[in-house]
Amino acid sequence: MKNFITIEGCDGVGKTFQTRLFKEYCQQNGIDHIVFTREPGGSNIAEQIRGIILDANNSEMDDLCEAFLYASARIQHLHDIVKPALAQGKVVFCDRFVDSSYVYQGLGRNLGLQKIIDLNALAVGEYMPEFTIFLDLSPQKAFERKGGADVTDRLENVDFSFHQQVYDGYKLLIEQDPDRFEVIDASGTIEETQQKLREVLIRRGIL
Ligand code: TMP
Repeated sequence: MKNFITIEGCDGVGKTFQTRLFKEYCQQNGIDHIVFTREPGGSNIAEQIRGIILDANNSEMDDLCEAFLYASARIQHLHDIVKPALAQGKVVFCDRFVDSSYVYQGLGRNLGLQKIIDLNALAVGEYMPEFTIFLDLSPQKAFERKGGADVTDRLENVDFSFHQQVYDGYKLLIEQDPDRFEVIDASGTIEETQQKLREVLIRRGIL
């Protein structure tokens, strides 16, 4: 879908921070045609679903239940934020989207990529991103940079091989659909990564 942009990466890669920096840059430079949002969440009901998914007390949650909750939050978020903003001619910049489900649920949780593609087809419909920025940093480096996992976050209390599977999953998606992905090497400084991100958006005609 034109003007729908997503950003993806492993936990701790600095994706949310880079998005915030970019948002601040837009505010400081009078760029007001970009709507910033995130998944899971981004709107009232979807944020409530996020709370259930990420609650450390919900460790007994079934993997398929989790996959459906992500898809449910996605439907609501598309309805509340993404579709209205695009209809108004805005650009939507979304921190995580369906690729996260493909790699975290389909591959990390081993539910199977095709199953998660099928499950999400109903939620996403024609709203696949125009392009997706992938901040490329191995989970090992990402966790070192972050200074370890957040123990209050259920999803960060999983073993390391999970995150490696997620990273390999992203690489697989990029291999399968290279035109949709903009891969940015995120191993440099914060400023370098931010610069690369803006360059991509200029090249793609967003800025
Ligand atoms: P965040 O840390 O980028 O806010 O994302 C929260 C967690 O949610 C992160 O560990 C990735 C996970 N996630 C999924 O497993 N599947 C999804 O579909 C989405 C959107 C996020």
